[in-house]
Amino acid sequence: MLTQESITRKDFLRSMGLGGSALLAVLASCKNASDVVLPVGGITVDLSTKLLTINSYVYSNGVIIARTALGNTANSFVAVAQACTHAGTTVVFQSSGKFYCPNHGAEFNTSGAVTQGPATKSLKKYMVAVSGTILTIS
Ligand code: FES
Repeated sequence: MLTQESITRKDFLRSMGLGGSALLAVLASCKNASDVVLPVGGITVDLSTKLLTINSYVYSNGVIIARTALGNTANSFVAVAQACTHAGTTVVFQSSGKFYCPNHGAEFNTSGAVTQGPATKSLKKYMVAVSGTILTIS
């Protein structure tokens, strides 16, 4: 007869022979893949060399930044966490104006909200500011 026992992730890793600092490192890597810590001062992108065309996008520090319109104003860009909230795969920005996860097909709008599963949690959206040709994400 099969029985199901409940063990904690910590107990499981200990049973695998992990302890001390190795255990802490594994547990730290298991935090939510969408957790992004921005560098002090935010992320900057030089718009004179990057994001020159509509629907182009770049990745920086765990954030995907996409151009959605012409002009160097904050409203021409969107920035969300690049890790899909389903299983952490890096999303891409599509010409349809959606963020798409190539792993299982989840889609997110430019606000980061889920528009197609299997993801159920929104991508975190970041503030965009533009000064001259410097875009800053915070
Ligand atoms: S990892 Fe993105 S949909 Fe599964």
